Amino acid sequence: MTKKEGSTNETRSRYDRIAPFYDWLEFPMEKLLARKLRERVWSKVEGPDVLEVGVGTGKNIPCYPVNSNITGIDISEKMLKGAEASARKEPDEKAPSLHQMDVQNLDFSENTFDTTVATFVFCSVPNPILGLREIHRVTRPEGEVMLLEDVRPEPRLLGNLFDFFNPVTVRLLGVNINRETVKNVRAAGLRINRVTNLTRGNIVKIISAKPDA
Ligand SMILES: C[S@@+](CC[C@H](N)C(=O)[O-])C[C@H]1O[C@@H](n2cnc3c(N)ncnc32)[C@H](O)[C@@H]1O
Repeated sequence: MTKKEGSTNETRSRYDRIAPFYDWLEFPMEKLLARKLRERVWSKVEGPDVLEVGVGTGKNIPCYPVNSNITGIDISEKMLKGAEASARKEPDEKAPSLHQMDVQNLDFSENTFDTTVATFVFCSVPNPILGLREIHRVTRPEGEVMLLEDVRPEPRLLGNLFDFFNPVTVRLLGVNINRETVKNVRAAGLRINRVTNLTRGNIVKIISAKPDA
């Protein structure tokens, strides 16, 4: 087994374990901030063919645009069960087609989707550049990639502090708190269209990128 496969299996098992509690753990952050940000991201999604990567327990499903064909993927079977339950609470027009899949190895042909969206996913993907390259491959050249991500803070001291604690958060939660996702998006060959900073320290960002680079 390669190192990447090992970390990917760990990520899958970790999310399978936390899936039953995930919505409870995230509840305060969801109420305070995340829900508003999800609405902001999805209000810009045009589709009609949309891929959501790392769909989790389906927190974005209420925000999905109607009249779109949404495909959701996640590495964790148990998180996907949560997404199925969330989809049942929404009108049929928002129901995604859900698949267990690794973003680092997507089982879709190139240029399949108009828009690809991921929210709070790239802190836990073992090889984010590989995952973003796959997104680049499956998103149409005239399409858009939209990410809502927490990243390494820009102020130097805070950034260093996040670097220091990163091994702890990776070990405990499998989450990297110091990912430089804007750089990774560029490294994957995508062209940055717009970066919107949403919090102090620029920790949470909406990143819009184009595959036409
Ligand atoms: C922090 S959760 C975010 C879930 C959801 N996007 C949200 O906003 O609530 C991260 C999700 O990414 C998924 N994930 C992590 N690595 C992945 C990979 N390599 N391929 C697909 N999904 C992955 C996890 O299983 C988990 O559901």
